[in-house]
Amino acid sequence: MSLAEKVPQALQAKIEKIIDNVKPSPWLNETQKIDYIAKIKALLVEKSAVLIAHYYVDDDIQALAEATGGYVSDSLDMANFGAKHKADKLVVCGVRFMGETAKILSPEKIVIMPTLEAECSLDLGCPIDEFSAFCDQHPDHIVVVYANTSVEVKARADWIVTSSNAIPIVENLMAEGKKIVWGPDRHLGQYINNKTGAEMVLWQGYCVVHDEFKLNELELLMTRYPEAEVLVHPESPEGVIAKADFVGSTKQIIAAGQRSESETLIIATDHGLFYKMNQAAPNKRLIPAPTGDKSATCKSCAHCPWMAMNTLINLYEALRDQTNVIEVDEVMRQRALVPLNRMLTFSRAHGILTAGDA
Ligand code: 13P
Ligand code: SF4
Repeated sequence: MSLAEKVPQALQAKIEKIIDNVKPSPWLNETQKIDYIAKIKALLVEKSAVLIAHYYVDDDIQALAEATGGYVSDSLDMANFGAKHKADKLVVCGVRFMGETAKILSPEKIVIMPTLEAECSLDLGCPIDEFSAFCDQHPDHIVVVYANTSVEVKARADWIVTSSNAIPIVENLMAEGKKIVWGPDRHLGQYINNKTGAEMVLWQGYCVVHDEFKLNELELLMTRYPEAEVLVHPESPEGVIAKADFVGSTKQIIAAGQRSESETLIIATDHGLFYKMNQAAPNKRLIPAPTGDKSATCKSCAHCPWMAMNTLINLYEALRDQTNVIEVDEVMRQRALVPLNRMLTFSRAHGILTAGDA
């Protein structure tokens, strides 16, 4: 068994244990929510801070980001927005790699997160020592990693990609005759490989949310809604991707839904996306792709346990006390900045970064 096959098994138990320890967020009634929202709005002004949220966080936080001149988007545009925005404090609502990316790009800014415990199974499943050893086994390959990784893994990479730019970047590398070590998401890696035919060796990490989408149940759902278009995030299993009418990043899925002529959309990604999808395509029927099989009581439980750790309460407290500040080792930051800037420059030149400038 190769190193790449062994590591995720060893880490699976660790990832499950971390998920088991995720504390449920306290429930807020409408009056409490209004109170927190008002206090956060006042603090954002007082502290010259801007909110940057991922589509998977709570609807209330997404709405607050929009209402206060902040931004809600995919991981690529979040990074670009934070780097370009004039505020000296960025409040990143998402998971830790998103806060770290903001800090790598803007070391002079204070980057605050509602919680520093919001992990990502892709990041957890790709420890630097094992991944670096895997890269060393393929010295004639360049290293391309997904943005959902630690600063150290980014620093080890030649290129960083997100799901919105992975295909054109790999096509470009192929045209230069490059062979690729890919990490960490095995499904995204396989998808890129199938689309481009690039010579790639794949690390075997996975997203605990997207890995759960069930092909059989999706097929059943498609027979019930034959007119539906199926939109899939590429962290999903290969069989689910094969059923898709469209595959892309969270932001690209929203754009595809908006363009779609079909009144019904089946969507295989975290259901946090439905808030913005509904804004973009208000007259469409949105159906979550199934994660549960026949006996499951929850048919679609696609929600990231770490994104769910961002709440109005911890957002308010972190901003009030300036806690949960992201710190990044300067040597690592400078190394990670090189492939990150490559990605941003490429994306700008190819029109992939269409928003996010402030
Ligand atoms: P996007 O880059 O599509 O926002 O994806 C980030 C992520 O973590 C998806 O699970
Ligand atoms: Fe990571 Fe998956 Fe959560 Fe995205 S949804 S942050 S890939 S665990």
